[in-house]
Amino acid sequence: MRTTNMRPKLIAGNWKMYTSAAAAEELAVAVAAGAPADPNIRLAICPPSIWLTRVAAVLKGSTVSLGGQNCHFEKEGAYTGELAPAMLIDAGCQYVILGHSERRHGFGETDELLNKKTKAALAAGLHVIFCIGELLAEREAERTEAVLDRQLTAGLAGLTPEQMANVVLAYEPVWAIGTGKVASPEQAQAAHAFVRGKIAMLFGEVVAQAVLIQYGGSVKPDNAATLLNLPDVDGALVGGASLKAELFLAIAAGAKR
Ligand code: 13P
Repeated sequence: MRTTNMRPKLIAGNWKMYTSAAAAEELAVAVAAGAPADPNIRLAICPPSIWLTRVAAVLKGSTVSLGGQNCHFEKEGAYTGELAPAMLIDAGCQYVILGHSERRHGFGETDELLNKKTKAALAAGLHVIFCIGELLAEREAERTEAVLDRQLTAGLAGLTPEQMANVVLAYEPVWAIGTGKVASPEQAQAAHAFVRGKIAMLFGEVVAQAVLIQYGGSVKPDNAATLLNLPDVDGALVGGASLKAELFLAIAAGAKR
């Protein structure tokens, strides 16, 4: 096992259901202007889908990538309110977040559904930020690894090692999301190492060493550097603090080795 790695860090902002049109543009302008020049620190922002084309226009020519927060698994059809993966590509996205806990637990998205969505998003040419994480009750019952195992095995079932090059994993313990209760460095590193080991079992060691595993859950400027420098933490998926450019950029600055 290597002690250092050449993996870049990916800091992604999940804006959830926040921002007006004007606020989204203003935030994107500020993030693009302050993005680090270091090619090993990559930024992505994931605004509400209705602002994607506006934000894409702002990001044009910048180093900041754009992502959606969800998509459907069909190419098109009578699915009121849904978005097809190709629509996200058309709107200028490189990424889509799938399996966020707010979709798993708030909208009943299952491992099987997320597997279909992941395959469809990859087929359309998107990179998938695939979220996993345990509930507080699951952690307290010492079921964290069993939950992560199931979410990875079922959610990524049928993907090829080649397809995994376009998958980023985001470990987001549900009890740390929006609560201010960040995972301890020991908890984060242990979960990330488990996830990387599981990916090695499913797809081989080469894929496991290359896959980016972000941490998410109450990442702030004051805890970012510690988390981002753990051996198996390759970035952050940031909620609340991604809504303020100075906080988001300060988190990215914490990724400097
Ligand atoms: P917070 O950073 O607000 O805890 O949210 C994390 C998250 O859900 C990112 O997807």
